[in-house]
Amino acid sequence: MNFELLDLDAAQAGHEKCDVLLMLLSSTFKAGRNPLSNLISKALKAGDLADKPGSLLDIYRPAGLSCARLVLVQVADGKPGNVRKGVSAAMALVKSAKPKQVTLCFDQTPDSQTLHVALSTLAEASYVYATTLSKAEVRTIGLVKVGVPSSTDLAASFDQTVATVRGIELAKEWANRPANHATPSHLAHAAQALAKSPRIKCTVMGLKEVEKLGMGAFLAVAKGSAEPLKFIELHYKGAAKNQPPVVLVGKGITFDSGGISIKPAAEMDEMKYDMCGAASVLGVFKALAELQPNINVVGLIPACENLPSSRAVKPGDVVTSMSGQTIEILNTDAEGRLVLCDALTYAERFKPQAVLDIATLTGACVIALGGVRSGFFSSDPALSAAMAKASESSQDLCWPMPLDDDYAEGLKTKYADVANVAGRPGGAITAAKFLQRFTSKYPWGHLDIAGSAWKSGAAKGATGRPVGLLLHYVMSLQVSAA
Ligand code: BES
Ligand code: MN
Ligand code: ZN
Repeated sequence: MNFELLDLDAAQAGHEKCDVLLMLLSSTFKAGRNPLSNLISKALKAGDLADKPGSLLDIYRPAGLSCARLVLVQVADGKPGNVRKGVSAAMALVKSAKPKQVTLCFDQTPDSQTLHVALSTLAEASYVYATTLSKAEVRTIGLVKVGVPSSTDLAASFDQTVATVRGIELAKEWANRPANHATPSHLAHAAQALAKSPRIKCTVMGLKEVEKLGMGAFLAVAKGSAEPLKFIELHYKGAAKNQPPVVLVGKGITFDSGGISIKPAAEMDEMKYDMCGAASVLGVFKALAELQPNINVVGLIPACENLPSSRAVKPGDVVTSMSGQTIEILNTDAEGRLVLCDALTYAERFKPQAVLDIATLTGACVIALGGVRSGFFSSDPALSAAMAKASESSQDLCWPMPLDDDYAEGLKTKYADVANVAGRPGGAITAAKFLQRFTSKYPWGHLDIAGSAWKSGAAKGATGRPVGLLLHYVMSLQVSAA
């Protein structure tokens, strides 16, 4: 699906040849003297387009206009939530007609956030998963023209939005693939494919190298599975060598059965999504490849399966992490923090300006925040402020969670430096406290995306989050040319 940004007022929009013209109308709509404006004015006057956001008026072959179908879309005050409502309602309406060319017009030039929400909602609504179907439905929309009254100030944010959409779709693709089609080796190949782009390099380590590094926690998780582990390292170099990078660490458990502490059967299939953190890192690199910003970014993905077997790690086993800290694995289902802690220690070598890990880490975070906001943990004020800003501007929302040391009490054990689980209360926070022990060398943030990375039930599917959030954050670190 391609996007094209155009200068279009209502008069010009009327001349656009397309299968569907989606006209977003805000409460401040001002009619000009042209067929489209006249039609809109009449509809509004007659009350045929309700003022509720998401209301639609569907018109077939409107006289005097070049589109085959016109859909008027009420977005009221034009706030992001209302634009999302409007665009998704309109897409649900026209989807069955399988349009090929859609033109999306704004009655007034949107700000970059509104543009971003509109385009990502349109992409989301037209996405189809195809990889493992023998006769897949395909996405029919090939081209989306985006018409705004004045595009001059929007070009850069339009490019960023389009790149973000590409990143989100790559993340969704890998997340949605079943675990037997998205093994650690498959993810490594996907990362290597990204390294074909300028400024991107990829290296992949296997068992031998990981053993040599002493990643005892990562190894413990991987050893129950016959599927070989991979430690994926991506570099995007857009700035001078001496510019400290941001490191993104994505949890890449390609299937989480729980291991010996096995999970119940119901909905266990959804644990193929336990690599959504890894998928989001791939998505960010996809977007970086398109945008070529002047920053340095490192991506780290510890990838393996968590399965029970005669070789699997057992509850009560004590392992030594790369940091030297020993860990008592009281519950093999708390495996995410084990693969992450070694990757967080590995990240030290890049002398990073910040490290963010992204993980479908805890069911407790789903209970705390649901699917609306990802949990964000950080003790660094600058990083927290930058992430809060990125959350708003991307509308890929997160919410600050606490890190008081008292939450770490439950991780104490007689048999090792730390246990990998505490009790059930505050489970998302105790998991973050475990990770924090491995992050003393740099500013660190942790995103628990267990609730936001995919949807369950009838709408089962990856969301591509938090690619938008991460990208807004890393792009905000660009050194200005001045
Ligand atoms: N991948 C899961 C977390 C998860 C569970 C995400 C359900 C989304 C939905 C993680 O590895 C896990 O199993 N966490 C345990 C931790 C517990 C054993 C302390 C959990 O949340 O139950
Ligand atoms: Mn688990
Ligand atoms: Zn997991």
